[in-house]
Amino acid sequence: MAKHRDTEYGQELYDSLKRISAGAPLPLDGRLSFFLELGSVRERELRKMKKFRFQLLHRWLVEHIRPCRVADIGGGKGLLAYLLQQSGWQASVIDPVPQSLPDKYKDIASGARVRIAPTERVPHIDSPFETHLGRHFDLLIGMHAHGSNVKVIDAALQYGCGFVLFPCCVIDEPFYPPLGVSWLESVAGYAVQQGLAVQPFRLNFKGQNIGLISPGRCEVRMKDEG
Ligand SMILES: C[S@@+](CC[C@H](N)C(=O)[O-])C[C@H]1O[C@@H](n2cnc3c(N)ncnc32)[C@H](O)[C@@H]1O
Repeated sequence: MAKHRDTEYGQELYDSLKRISAGAPLPLDGRLSFFLELGSVRERELRKMKKFRFQLLHRWLVEHIRPCRVADIGGGKGLLAYLLQQSGWQASVIDPVPQSLPDKYKDIASGARVRIAPTERVPHIDSPFETHLGRHFDLLIGMHAHGSNVKVIDAALQYGCGFVLFPCCVIDEPFYPPLGVSWLESVAGYAVQQGLAVQPFRLNFKGQNIGLISPGRCEVRMKDEG
């Protein structure tokens, strides 16, 4: 299994995740290979976007998945949920720590600084994520979320929702990866063992930038859609 330094998530790990995904009991369908392909195109395109992970994930999501009921688990200040809401998604944050939205963000398409009015809100569930909360959503996102990766996969199994996970630290999870196996590989392996189709993709931001997608019941955009 691949090893990696804390700050470097290299090709070796990505390739290992592709191998793990290929072992999924469900055959890889066209939808998942599409994710893989576009992930690498975007990475080449977005060399300078290293700081804007919420904007990059927002852009990736709207390009690949039709608007749906989405929860950003461990969503922090809620910028990703806010951006999805602006794009017509029904977005909530689930995070035990209530935080206010930031007052501005950078629009990566125009380069402009965009203000968020103090009156703007996104629905916020102020509690740790528990599997049963998944039944209210079509897509569960965990970007560097704590205590939630395994529960998100369990919710996907139970309720048929999709997920996008960027597993980062092993905090409050029910198991640790074995020696020599990364947490990412361990999470991907767990999803595959449960019979879920999963695929890695990569965004160009600093830190743990490899995501795992399992579309579940989400409607995926076709490759040739505008
Ligand atoms: C490292 S921060 C990531 C925040 C944000 N997603 C980002 O990428 O910057 C981890 C977040 O997980 C939240 N968290 C901690 N335990 C949690 C749990 N059991 N369920 C959901 N969120 C949790 C924390 O409050 C925090 O906002």
